[in-house]
Amino acid sequence: MEASAIKVVPSGQACGATVTGIDLSRPLTEAQVAAIRTAWLSHHVLSFPDQHMSDDDLERFTLSFGGFGDDPFIAPIAGRKHVIAVQRLADETSPLFAENWHSDWSFQARPPAGTCLYGITIPPTGGDTLFANQHAALDALPDSLRSRLEGRMAIHSARKAYAPDGAYGEGDVARRSMDIRPSAAAEASQLHPVIRAHPETGRLGLFSCLGYIIGIEGMDEAEAMPLLLELYHWQGRPEFQYRHRWQQGTLLMWDNRSVLHAATGGYDGHDRLLHRTTIRAA
Ligand code: SIN
Repeated sequence: MEASAIKVVPSGQACGATVTGIDLSRPLTEAQVAAIRTAWLSHHVLSFPDQHMSDDDLERFTLSFGGFGDDPFIAPIAGRKHVIAVQRLADETSPLFAENWHSDWSFQARPPAGTCLYGITIPPTGGDTLFANQHAALDALPDSLRSRLEGRMAIHSARKAYAPDGAYGEGDVARRSMDIRPSAAAEASQLHPVIRAHPETGRLGLFSCLGYIIGIEGMDEAEAMPLLLELYHWQGRPEFQYRHRWQQGTLLMWDNRSVLHAATGGYDGHDRLLHRTTIRAA
């Protein structure tokens, strides 16, 4: 199928587009990769419905866009090094995985450019994934808030999530179907600018948020935490959002440099399973 057959339809929300006219179970041509990359950089979240992808196909697609990112703290599925299962069983009672806004692995020195998530078992209701466009959030940011953030470096860490005493720590993993591996390595921290130019488009945006951001360099906690909380509420406002409603066989690809995302619940009593890869930094 030629790249010219690809059809990109924007969601009409703050980001997101649906891509049809392409079969992701087959290797992509250079022209198709270029067309998808252009659409991805423009819409930040791309949805490819009605696909029939194996894990080989998912890995090949990921490699087409820059290679695999490094996925810490979650073990890959059996027989794969780079595919993790985002999973919840019908009778699971642990807190929802990834329910707070975040940008994947923003605590790394070179966080992944993107994430691919393929829907395998999709519940009949609930389980949408929300996205929030962080270029739009910055563009609309009130001057009073922006002036407190301009030039600031955020301190990122996985400690609140994946340290042994974190949200997905040793007390949590025993009752969770996902293969999460908490570790003391989560205590490490990394600086990134709060307001950052997108590495490929140069467009300014807010990068990551409270959660993986645990402080602001040179600002005491009493000042930084209320500021980060105020920013967090701003970053996820409804006007910056795209809501993705899943169907089995949809591949979703998002740009961690442009959007935050968050899982939602509402499917108790139903299994949910998606396979995920990350695309390494460009
Ligand atoms: C994730 O953050 O990778 C999972 C999103 C979801 O389960 O909807």
